[in-house]
Amino acid sequence: MPAGSRRYLRMKVYRAQQFVRPDLQAHIFSGTLLENVRNLRGLCPKSTRFCAVVKANAYGHGISEIVNILKQGAVDAFAVATIYEALHIATLTKKHPILILEPLNPSQSVEAIQVCAREGFHCLLSSADSLHYVCQALAGSKHVLNIHINIETGMGRCGIDHGLAVQLMQAVAECPQLRLAGIMTHFATADEEDLSYAYEQLVIFNRFIAEHRLRERGIVIHACNSAGTIKLPEAHFDMVRCGISMYGYYSRRMANPPVSLKPVMKLMAPITGLKPIPQGHSVSYGRSFVTKRPTLAALVPLGYADGYRRCFSNRAVLKVGEQFAPVIGRVCMDQIIVDVTDVPNVRLGQMVTVLDNVHDSPCSAYALADLADTICYEILTFIHAHVNRIVH
Ligand SMILES: Cc1ncc(COP(=O)(O)O)c(C=O)c1O
Repeated sequence: MPAGSRRYLRMKVYRAQQFVRPDLQAHIFSGTLLENVRNLRGLCPKSTRFCAVVKANAYGHGISEIVNILKQGAVDAFAVATIYEALHIATLTKKHPILILEPLNPSQSVEAIQVCAREGFHCLLSSADSLHYVCQALAGSKHVLNIHINIETGMGRCGIDHGLAVQLMQAVAECPQLRLAGIMTHFATADEEDLSYAYEQLVIFNRFIAEHRLRERGIVIHACNSAGTIKLPEAHFDMVRCGISMYGYYSRRMANPPVSLKPVMKLMAPITGLKPIPQGHSVSYGRSFVTKRPTLAALVPLGYADGYRRCFSNRAVLKVGEQFAPVIGRVCMDQIIVDVTDVPNVRLGQMVTVLDNVHDSPCSAYALADLADTICYEILTFIHAHVNRIVH
């Protein structure tokens, strides 16, 4: 990596590095990850490239760990949200293209744009102002920046309207420091049962590709996230961008999934205290739980500061040995209390499962997402970077 990039990386990325807590253990099963990728690839034509989405610390799984597993030949490219994540991956692999999903924009420094070009990153452009800024930032540079243009087909986020997209393609062609490397779109509802809106998006995207003869121009065309990859084979094009499915989850729980996916991560923590609590005694902040019987309470040292949500208070369960034991009282910043009265042979130091790697477990990411009225993406990405990732 050139000295300029290294300096930038040190300045912007290493400052964010955290200590690691060895007692909070996220077990990452590399065989499961590779099998999920194999199964997803099996849905696509052989020629379709597989871009592994590893933003948000690889959906909470640990970006370094996941990239190190996948870089051995399982995938063709990586996608991230930010330049900082891209730079980190560039220290781990030289041969994979890295796509940055946040569009380039003038809030980024000139140095950041130059780093993207120097590192060969693939970047999104979504406005004429940004294009102007990027061209100026790279004026006279010997490096050429790979540009992907995101076409608005119905997502209503970073895509650009067709007229402007055509102008941007033209402007990219005229700027010697830019190369049009990709044309993409993003589905808003591919995870829903009713795919009619996704098909409308696909029709609009196909029309744009045909009108501008993009398939004949050697540009990488890509549209599918996980749900699209699984449910819209017509939309696989040259590359798919899969995140949640690689980690073992359907974007939304599916009754009869057409592909087998297994969760890659199991989060465990030790019992650090065992405390008998008499009947009628309140537990934790706010006294939201009062024991109905003499209770053996286990302390587990994780809480909302580690990503274990406060709304799990009095609702979630943990797996202790072979049994499920309820969280009692409020989840604290870094402690939870679990009723282990009915669990045989419970002992100090015993590791318990906080997030299970089995879909229908009462403490799976799906079950926790239901409790928090959210999606499994949020449960996973909330798991703090200081949790120790252990690769098997
Ligand atoms: C542009 C884009 N492509 C692909 C993905 C991956 O989505 P999923 O995790 O549903 O596969 C995302 C994730 O948010 C995204 O923003």
